[in-house]
Amino acid sequence: MLAADDKLNSVMAAPAAISRPRAVPDSGSRGRSDIRVSEEQLAAFRRDGFLVLDDLTTPDEIASMRTLYDRLFSERRGWENGDLFDMVGRDSAERPASVPQMLWPSRYWPELRQTQLYASAVSIAEQMLGPGIQNILEHAIMKPALHGGATPWHQDDAFSRKGSGFLESISIWMPLQDVTLENGCLMYIRGSNWGPLYPHRSPNNDPRIHGLETVAKPDMTNLVPVPVRAGGAVIHHSRTLHAAGVNTSDQPRRAYVLGYAVQARPHSRFSRDYPWNLEKRTARDERELSKLPGWKRTLRKVRRFLRGR
Ligand code: NI
Repeated sequence: MLAADDKLNSVMAAPAAISRPRAVPDSGSRGRSDIRVSEEQLAAFRRDGFLVLDDLTTPDEIASMRTLYDRLFSERRGWENGDLFDMVGRDSAERPASVPQMLWPSRYWPELRQTQLYASAVSIAEQMLGPGIQNILEHAIMKPALHGGATPWHQDDAFSRKGSGFLESISIWMPLQDVTLENGCLMYIRGSNWGPLYPHRSPNNDPRIHGLETVAKPDMTNLVPVPVRAGGAVIHHSRTLHAAGVNTSDQPRRAYVLGYAVQARPHSRFSRDYPWNLEKRTARDERELSKLPGWKRTLRKVRRFLRGR
């Protein structure tokens, strides 16, 4: 459980070195969880491509997490090294982001990985994917009150490298307040996890924007909006088509997201990346590169060259 906000200063860490590997073995945290995913729930997940679970943690923990979460964003943690950026618009230091997104928030708030919420997410991932899971992403997506922009339709697989070697991956999306259509809950196309990876592009065809959207709007026949209560989660497969609406409420919409994968084979160093990722030219990326030591920057550029960039 997290400390109350009088301990804010002690739990907000200075930025760690930015050499954290992008995929790390994850065998649990110091928190404990007895959450169980039933056979029926697993079957529903395989059929639909998403699954809602309640009560990953207590209301008290969620309330204390909200305070720390808001502080991470108000202090713009991670901006300099590219961890904080606008997901759906061009980055600007002058105007507020439409949808601020922070990668690896536990770099700035290590106790995040000692919460019951985190322990529950790890347990869910192990039950859904089996042993040997890797934590491949951690991010926080905040939709500001009254003007938080929409998240376009996409499949998370589109963000992965082609040739990633991932057998299967899931995202565990955990809101820190109730989410409804009014404040931008997720929406899914039920069963799209069984379909192909569709062509993607940058929003407005602007490669300076981090986000991605499907080139063609999906068939809405099986559209399912998925409200989730604070302390719960919706888990989706990396192939499932999903989007989220604008936040029209007078409160921020806060989500904490953990991604897990099982790997069938090593990453291919030579697979050409997806065209929509090859064209990306984001300010976030430039900030991240500029903060790397020279040799790492060179190595990163060589790897990108091998993948077609
Ligand atoms: Ni997504």
